[in-house]
Amino acid sequence: MKTERPIGVFDSGIGGLTVVHALTRRMPHENIVYFGDTARVPYGPKSTQVVREYAAQDTDVLLEHDVKMIIVACNTVSAVALDIVQKRAKVPVMGVILPGAGAAVKTTRKKRIGIIGTVGTIKSNAYTNAIRQVDPEVQVFGKACPLFVPLAEEGWIDHKATELIAKEYLFPLTLEKIDTLVLGCTHYPILKGVIARVLQNSVTLIDSGEATAEAAAVLLEEQHLKNTSTLKPNLRFSVSDVSHTFAEVGERFLGQRLGRVHRVSGLAH
Ligand code: DGL
Repeated sequence: MKTERPIGVFDSGIGGLTVVHALTRRMPHENIVYFGDTARVPYGPKSTQVVREYAAQDTDVLLEHDVKMIIVACNTVSAVALDIVQKRAKVPVMGVILPGAGAAVKTTRKKRIGIIGTVGTIKSNAYTNAIRQVDPEVQVFGKACPLFVPLAEEGWIDHKATELIAKEYLFPLTLEKIDTLVLGCTHYPILKGVIARVLQNSVTLIDSGEATAEAAAVLLEEQHLKNTSTLKPNLRFSVSDVSHTFAEVGERFLGQRLGRVHRVSGLAH
């Protein structure tokens, strides 16, 4: 059946499992195929050209599974290479930037939004451009927070070091009097608690993954692609390297057991 085909989701590595988590909560009956490029992660500090090359290859991995849509869970890829994915795939493609930006614009009262993400995401200005297209009056303040990625993977969620680093990163945003902050990276929802605390719970946090799950559910409904089966869905996980910590970190990000993980070989380094 057309509607039973899986949703394809890819990311630079493990982080995209936070987006899969959001998808399974919003759409509990959809089959999902996930690919994480764990052999080549991180994408955040890499050049735009290399991220675009990797994005093309990641897309091809998913297309082998006859997916009915592709969700680019990685903010960095969504920011600089969504067009490449769209060009290769004949199915609907959704990145995390537009849904995240849209949710932020709806939330802000003071029209002052902060964006945190990888160096690649912040440098691209993709969130700023997307927000300004919806509402040109909104002021956007970006800050790259690269150390949040390893801290989230390490599970340092309630750790003093994480709090110190968060204070350092977020201080400039507090000076700008933002009232809304977009968590523009797959890993950051793991650190939601400490980020909210450092901002003294005075800023609304937008989880791009959750906003994307909502937008994807609407799109599938509109395009009559929603899975009508109520059987337990099939979640298939594949990676380019089954790293030592993949299962443990992955289960924390996904919020459930991963089961069998497949390795995809042959991607260039
Ligand atoms: N998945 C990336 C993102 O959301 C974070 C990890 C990386 O740098 O590859 O931008």
